[in-house]
This record gives sequence, C-alpha cells and structure tokens, in this order.
Amino acid sequence: MLNRAVCFMLVLIGGIFISCTMKEDTPMGESSLFGKLPDGREVVQYTLRNNSGSVVKIINYGAVVTSLVVPDRDGKFQDVVLGYNSLRDYENCTTYFGCIAGRYGNRIGKGKFTLDGKEVQLTINDGENHLHGGKVGFNKVLWDAQFVKDSAGPSLALTYVSPDGEEGYPGKVTLVVTYSLTDKNEFRITYKGTTDKTTILNPTHHSYFNLSGIFTNTILNHELMINADAITPVDRGLIPTGKMLDVSNTPMDFRSFTAVGKRINEPFEQIRFGKGYDHNWVLNGYNGKIQKAAELYEPQSGRLMTVYTDQPGLQFYSGNFLNGNDKGKGVAYQWRTGLCLEAQCFPDSPNKPDFPSVTLKPGEVYHQTTIYQFTIR
Ligand code: GLA
Repeated sequence: MLNRAVCFMLVLIGGIFISCTMKEDTPMGESSLFGKLPDGREVVQYTLRNNSGSVVKIINYGAVVTSLVVPDRDGKFQDVVLGYNSLRDYENCTTYFGCIAGRYGNRIGKGKFTLDGKEVQLTINDGENHLHGGKVGFNKVLWDAQFVKDSAGPSLALTYVSPDGEEGYPGKVTLVVTYSLTDKNEFRITYKGTTDKTTILNPTHHSYFNLSGIFTNTILNHELMINADAITPVDRGLIPTGKMLDVSNTPMDFRSFTAVGKRINEPFEQIRFGKGYDHNWVLNGYNGKIQKAAELYEPQSGRLMTVYTDQPGLQFYSGNFLNGNDKGKGVAYQWRTGLCLEAQCFPDSPNKPDFPSVTLKPGEVYHQTTIYQFTIR
C-alpha cells in the first residue's frame, strides 16, 4: 500500500517536473528550459532533428549551439562541438563556445574607426582592442527564438535587436539568424541584418569543432584544407597590418589537406603571434556567392566537414587559449581540443579601406549564408 502511494507521488512529481521543463513540442522541433538568468528570464534549449538522425541543440542565450550530433563512418552518432552543461558556464565563459559573435566578429584595432566622418569608439575588451562585439556582445544576450518553416529543413530563427550605442556601435540593429539542419547533414546559418543609422555589421559563428567526438583528443590530427592563396597577416595584438601574405612555402598553406599539428609549432612569426593558428584566410574567388571555403577531416572517425560561405574571409583559430580551465560535457577542455572556422569579413576592416566593406546603411540588408556540411570518408 505504502509502496503504491510512494509510486503515485513519484509519478506525480515527475509529471510536474516534465511539464515545467518541457516548453513546446512542434513537428519542427522540441524545446525545454535550459536555465534562468539572474534577472529571472528563462533560457530555452531548442532541438532540431533531420531524417538522417543528426541533432542540433541551440539555446536562445547567445544563439549558442550547445551540441551538434552527427554520424561517423560506422554510423555512430557523436557530439562534435565543445560546450558547457549549464547556463552559468555560458554566462561566465570567455571562450565564445558555439555563439554568434557580433556586432563585429573578430578584432578592431583600439576599438576605433571613422564612419561618415565621425570617430566611433567601441568598448575595449581584448588588450587595447575590441573583440567579438565587446564586453556584452551578441554572445551574452537573450535572443527571441522561434521554429520556422524553411525549405532547407527544420529551422530555428533567432532575433536580437541591438540598441543604438550598444558597446559603442551607432544605430539600432536588428539581426535575424536562422539555423537549419537539412537532410543532407548540412548545418546552415543564414543572417539578415538591418539598421536605422549607418553602422558596421560583421557577425560570425563561433563553434569549436572536434570531429573525433572525443573532447579529450586534440584537433592536431585533423586534416584541413582552406581554399585561400593568402592570409591577412597580423601584428602582436592580432590586428591585420593591412597587407596580404602569400601562403606559399609557409605553415599557413592549407591549399591541400594538411594535418593541423604538422607545422603549428614552427618558428614562423605569424604562428608565434597567434600562439598557433588564429588568422584570417583570404578566400579565393570571392564574389558574394556561396562557395566552398574549407574542408576538415578527422581520420579516425572518418568525419568530413565542408564549409561553404558567401563571405570573403575565414578565421581559422586552433583553440590556442583553451587551457583546461573550461569544463563541460564531462571534460576539462585542454589546449587545442577544438578549432573554429569563422566565416566573416576581414578583421579590422573599418580601418582598412582596401578590405571589403562592412558598412551597413539604413535601407540596406546585410546577408550572410554559411554552411557546415557533415559527410564521411
Ligand atoms: C577568436 C579569436 C581568438 C580568440 C577566440 C576566443 O576566434 O580570433 O583570438 O579570442 O576567438 O577565445
């Protein structure tokens, strides 16, 4: 009798727990409570699934991709992006795991530039420079999210309205980022941005990939190809000098598949400045249309990720600032256990008239499409 009463109570408590944490189930995806911000606002985790069994999870805090599960050559599904277990970790992190970085992904020298004849001063948050949108960038704000119908597949649209003056940026900017998971295992990101005053906009996606699916492995065995004949070399503060550097006969040459670790410790000045790879590759044949930018292959699992983008640049960052202090998904992320391939305009472009422009004017629409496709080999 007692046992029955206990069972009943447990079922009741379980039911209440599930109905509190489950937010919404639609044919397009599921959502559940991920955590609450200190001011009480709820952060929700959304799940997109495709017909091939792959799954992506996204939270509306920072538009962060918290997990991306894709098959290996034996059909084993594993998570291939670094991340945390709790909202607090995402609030406190300085790694930019999985987020949308913005308004300006990457660095602006001294956080300063001239726009329409006026000097703009942004927040300084990286030495003497501005990085990834400032102290409270797009990675540290709550976005509006909703499942949307998209021909690409199950999709989630996230919207953030950045007020005029936020982190020093002029103009109120509205950015819509749509994440889709197609049946061809493409994780597709489309961006659409508008402003009410002339401003700059250059958002990017900041997932750290480890295609082995085992986060205690480094990414040094991953083989990388980047379709680029040049990089934008940087100074010690990782600000582009404004010149182009031909990658021929340097450790920056990834025009054919090369293991990331093969030349990463060479005494090459650019490598020393970046403490490894942390540079912008100038993609060949940029014409504003979607093109293959890079391929990343992990030999043990057979996973191959192909990056397509309509952007002119690709930042390849080899996780050089990971140091074991960040823990999530049951491991402490050690040095170079994840790498980012961030499609974008070139760093510091507001101060480099020869670089493609990132200026956005009222009436114009900013667009970006970047696709990470997962196959096996
Ligand atoms: C970027 C930068 C790196 C580093 C990481 C975040 O990709 O290029 O230098 O700041 O973000 O740790």
